Amino acid sequence: MRWPKEVELKEVGPRDGLQNEPGWVNTEHKVAWINMLSNTGIKEIEYSSFVHPKWIPALKDAREVGRQIKRNPNVTYSALVPNQKGLEHALEAGIDRASVFMSATETHNLKNINKSIDETLPIMKQVIQDAKAANKKVTAYVSTVFDCPFEGKTDVNQVLKVAEALFEYGADDISLGDTIGSAVPNQIEEVLEVVNQYFANKDIIMHFHDTRGMAIANIVTSMNYGMTRFDTSIGGLGGCPYAPGAAGNVATNDVLYLMNGLGIETNIDEEKLLKAAFYIQNKLNKKLPSRSLMYELSQMSEGIDADVLEQKRRRKRDMMYDFLKYQYDIFKKMAQ
Ligand code: HMG
Ligand code: MG
Repeated sequence: MRWPKEVELKEVGPRDGLQNEPGWVNTEHKVAWINMLSNTGIKEIEYSSFVHPKWIPALKDAREVGRQIKRNPNVTYSALVPNQKGLEHALEAGIDRASVFMSATETHNLKNINKSIDETLPIMKQVIQDAKAANKKVTAYVSTVFDCPFEGKTDVNQVLKVAEALFEYGADDISLGDTIGSAVPNQIEEVLEVVNQYFANKDIIMHFHDTRGMAIANIVTSMNYGMTRFDTSIGGLGGCPYAPGAAGNVATNDVLYLMNGLGIETNIDEEKLLKAAFYIQNKLNKKLPSRSLMYELSQMSEGIDADVLEQKRRRKRDMMYDFLKYQYDIFKKMAQ
């Protein structure tokens, strides 16, 4: 297999990751974390979501986050936008790129954004056109491309129909979502075979959730079909709250390990990425599912324990020294 020289990983942890976390992460911690991510070499960060706060309470501070993050000029900051109101808020808070979204299947679309596909398309058209008029790039997500949690296997013609409309409205690229992380490589082949014919000169991104651990195999398969852009989430954080049982996106750390091993450039600094993963893991007070993160943690915990032991030993030694010195001083005074 011929591997690409370089791939681009878009970090969706602050949006797709946090949207499904029951624990609240304070705005200042989100901002500090996104600032850390901004210095890892990652080229695009989806920093939050301008959906209705009742639907996604974990991201209700999207506007504050957008205003407070320190923007690295080498990073594209995008955010999820469902409609014109969301776009208005996102433009106020600051975005370089709007990420619109809808599903290839009726039931998921209805559960996720409360509208049928036919009702959603004119909204997408308007939002994409307004975003373009504001000089913003637009990524359009298509969810449930391979399987739908409510309708089963997705008809590829439905994916083509939705994607074609979104490109026609002006989307710069389309992200194809395995929303529930159910697809296996032959499904990727089946869809990309058709997508590559249909949208030969268009930009396609692959968005894999890793519910059943198939995402890495699906990424490898996608690269075989010429795909070089992937959405990933640090530590494997997240899921889709309107796709029951779906786990987080494939972990940025695991994909980075894969790409480094294959000699494919990502421009991401592994150490800085690890620090950002540990940071959010600590804030959420839970272990993130990334396998390579767990491995790194197991290696470091020995180091951390050794440090703690050393500190304790030092403290004991110091206390002993203080005590002996105190006794010695008393003894010296008595002898005078
Ligand atoms: P709705 O209730 O049908 O909205 O929700 P509406 O247009 O009827 O308006 C109702 C009220 O909501 C109005 O307020 C609006 O102003 C307000 P009222 O007049 O009653 O006071 N409203 C808003 N407020 C704040 N921000 C907004 C907004 N829009 C309307 N943007 C809506 C429709 C789309 C808003 C709702 O269904 C929603 O927010 N859904 C979001 C669901 C979601 O975020 N899902 C997860 C993200 S998608 C995903 O994870 C998949 C992806 O990762 C790809 C993959 O994995 O496949 C992208
Ligand atoms: Mg997703």
